[in-house]
Amino acid sequence: MIRKSVTAKIGVAIMGLISVVLLVQYLALGQLLKNAFYSQATEELLVQGQQYARMSASGGYMMMQMLCTTANTSLVMLNTKGDIITASPALHLGQPSSADKETLQTALRGKSQMHSGYSDLFSAKGLTVAVPMKQSGEITGAVVLFRPQSVIQTGFQQQEWLLVLAGIGAILMALGLTVVLSKRIAEPLKQMAGATRELGKGNFEMRLPVVGEDEVANLGESINELAENLHRLETSRKEFLADISHELRTPMSYICGYSQVLEEGFIQSPEETQKYLHIIYEESKRLETLVNDLFVLAQADAGMLTVEKQSTQLENFVQQVVETMQKRVEDKQIELQLDIPTLPTVYVDPLRMEQVFINLIDNAIRYTPAGGRIVVQGQTDGRGVEISISDTGIGIPKEDLPRIWDRLYRVEKSRSRARGGTGLGLAIVKQIVELHSGHVTAESVEGKGTTMRFWIPLKSEPGMAE
Ligand SMILES: Nc1ncnc2c1ncn2[C@@H]1O[C@H](COP(=O)(O)OP(=O)(O)O)[C@@H](O)[C@H]1O
Ligand SMILES: [Mg+2]
Repeated sequence: MIRKSVTAKIGVAIMGLISVVLLVQYLALGQLLKNAFYSQATEELLVQGQQYARMSASGGYMMMQMLCTTANTSLVMLNTKGDIITASPALHLGQPSSADKETLQTALRGKSQMHSGYSDLFSAKGLTVAVPMKQSGEITGAVVLFRPQSVIQTGFQQQEWLLVLAGIGAILMALGLTVVLSKRIAEPLKQMAGATRELGKGNFEMRLPVVGEDEVANLGESINELAENLHRLETSRKEFLADISHELRTPMSYICGYSQVLEEGFIQSPEETQKYLHIIYEESKRLETLVNDLFVLAQADAGMLTVEKQSTQLENFVQQVVETMQKRVEDKQIELQLDIPTLPTVYVDPLRMEQVFINLIDNAIRYTPAGGRIVVQGQTDGRGVEISISDTGIGIPKEDLPRIWDRLYRVEKSRSRARGGTGLGLAIVKQIVELHSGHVTAESVEGKGTTMRFWIPLKSEPGMAE
């Protein structure tokens, strides 16, 4: 039970601590009180004894006996020979022990003396005080006063009760404290355990009530954040799945539909057959690109997208990539201008870097109408190389700009699809550039044009000396 409950553990700890403190306090205070009561009694008996010693010269024994009886004290007066002059009534004196004798003899020698403990003379445990009686400088005897321990302790026991009461109070307060702590700690912990179990089951909508700012509250907040993030991830995963199914379904339905039409053999004219075959080819191409791009992204997600870096001279590299796209540029009647000075050597994976250039220049061609212009520029800031690809195309609306790097995101689905886009190109660009320890940015004015920029460090090989 205790092993499983934080509250019980805290409770036991508090109780243990309080008990130890109380015990120590009880023992120490008890001793102090006892000492105080005994020294007070000693003081009283001494003063009384001295008073009686003075009074004894003029008799007044009855008075003394009365006073002693009311104070629960026994009185014996002795002369120097040890004969009893007077004693409390009904007092049965026993044989004095050696301790008793020593007390008496010290008093008879002229010095007050006290003894605490069992007295054979008075046959009880208590405090014995002996005071010398003097007459004109001569010792004439001794006053012996005895107060039993039971009398001294009555006052002390009352005080002791107060201690016990205080102890009970402290224990009750400790119990209260345990209950409060349990509410503040154990209860939220229990809720958190339940909440994380819910998360495990896939219920990402649950939220914990968070009170205060302490560690427990922080933990609760973290769990809430975790739930929120998981919820977001789950949502975007579902969206992505839905989008991808849609993206795959469209070309496949084209391919199925047109191949079926061809198979049925109703189409006679070779032109029409050619047209349908072309659509089937285009859509298969599109499927191939889509699946290839998805594969690259899946590899990146799994941390398996490898980059094999080689020292590369970017100006020659860009020249070659652009040549492969020259025909498309000319077909679309766009002017493509290369403006790249001699750049420092960079370490990049040529295949991956080629993909970056193709995706960016492909977009520029795709989203720039005939008569437009594309400029590829390069420069170095000493730490790295920056490449920019600017076009005079349709541009990207401001509100879409932050999302163009998302997978399958297209500004205008129908428009982009008509142009053959899948919405994965920029996501791949971003992955590859970041794998080269670089970054990408986009600037665009709708209707005016777009500039895509990426920067990669000169020596991005891990562990390479600067
Ligand atoms: N140079 C550009 N000019 C205008 N719009 C662009 C340009 N580059 C990208 N975009 C927009 O960003 C979207 C995402 O680009 P990308 O990931 O390459 O997908 P897509 O396959 O549609 O080209 C495109 O659909 C397009 O709307
Ligand atoms: Mg693209």
